[in-house]
Amino acid sequence: MKVLIVGGGGREHAIAWAVQKNPRVEKLYCAPGNAGIAEYAECVPIGAMEFDKLTEFAVEKGIDFAIVGMDDPLVGGLVDLFEEKGIRAFGPRKNAAILEGSKAFSKELMEKYGIPTAAYVTAYSASEAREFLKKSRYPVVLKADGLALGKGVLICSTPEEAEKGVVEIMEDKKFGAAGDKMVIEEFMTGREVSVLTFCDGKTIRPMASAQDHKRAKDGDEGLNTGGMGTFSPSPFYTPSVDEFCRKNIYQRTVDAMAAEGRPFKGVIFFGLMLTKDGPKVLEYNCRFGDPEAQVVIPRMKTDLLTVMEACTDGRLDEIELEFTDDACVCVVLASDGYPVSYKKGFPIEGLENFKGKADRFVFHAGTKFDENGTVVTNGGRVLGVTAVGKTLVEARRSAYAAAELIHFDNKYMRHDIGKAIDEA
Ligand code: AMP
Ligand code: GLY
Repeated sequence: MKVLIVGGGGREHAIAWAVQKNPRVEKLYCAPGNAGIAEYAECVPIGAMEFDKLTEFAVEKGIDFAIVGMDDPLVGGLVDLFEEKGIRAFGPRKNAAILEGSKAFSKELMEKYGIPTAAYVTAYSASEAREFLKKSRYPVVLKADGLALGKGVLICSTPEEAEKGVVEIMEDKKFGAAGDKMVIEEFMTGREVSVLTFCDGKTIRPMASAQDHKRAKDGDEGLNTGGMGTFSPSPFYTPSVDEFCRKNIYQRTVDAMAAEGRPFKGVIFFGLMLTKDGPKVLEYNCRFGDPEAQVVIPRMKTDLLTVMEACTDGRLDEIELEFTDDACVCVVLASDGYPVSYKKGFPIEGLENFKGKADRFVFHAGTKFDENGTVVTNGGRVLGVTAVGKTLVEARRSAYAAAELIHFDNKYMRHDIGKAIDEA
């Protein structure tokens, strides 16, 4: 079978690594891929938003299964286009990817179907937002409706900060059309947990829990990033929390989407806050998290491609998902200056230390081959150094030891990934 993966980050590397293990895969392509993915896949220089080129390529090569890893093409309807060309594809159609594509939609859905989340209102203009904010309690959370590269959420402690946020999102349109609407939300406190789930439109199967560290600097200081590191499982995600979420959050969400005529097939990523009043949904994403995928996929015992096909074909009820009892930690090696500005093109040394290892991996995020065939840095997040261990403490120790095996100019990482584990 011929498989095409769309994307080129650490998440897609983890997906490619797992998919190529299936002996039915005779040829794997990745668009655009990166220097790490090139170990298993032929990387083709087509961007994830070049829909015409992607579908033409898939038809020409006779792709049997396409996997769309990233949010932008999913929200833009790439899966629909593949299907129109008769290509089976993994991921939600456009009408279901709206779960991530519009925060106003997802909040309304949760309200309508009784899925626990923070209280909110939706503002359709800056003046409406200002009226709501007069009555709000602080801190208050402002969210641009659409995709904003993970930067469209502002936590405002004072009315002055909120006013600045309204101007940024709705008047200056810092995030473009994503700011046509804005969700104004109650501020919640508690532990955050990420739970990725597989869905086939009716059935939902949660994967192992994970936790991300989104801020750039140690101690959760600095700017928000795509994620500086993750660990799995989260010790705070206890069996009773899991039981509550399966009943009141996961199945309800899939049923709600089906009832709305938007059956969701693919991965729903639940961003949860464990509040004193119980777990509540912070956000939905319509794809694997990055770098959550890098700690969840290595723990998966069930064959990833088989599960993905079952999601697409509506047969997920036939699959029992299994995960190892191991723990996994991923430390992101970034280019110093990320997420603002950073240099690229530095040679990366030490990658050979990961070849053929079963307990440590290096998932490439922003890398490429230069003209001499040397692997060089090519992005803000460069690599996800990942280790498995019997316990989280052991996995963390070995992930940090492995991170020392890699060298490149301007290498930057957080030193406290998984530190919350010690408090559990
Ligand atoms: P989101 O993109 O919706 O996940 O928001 C990014 C981050 O903002 C989350 O991971 C939380 O840390 C924080 N956040 C979002 N919504 C809330 C909320 N209602 N209360 C507290 N923190 C929030
Ligand atoms: N790591 C957070 C995300 O993928 O959205």
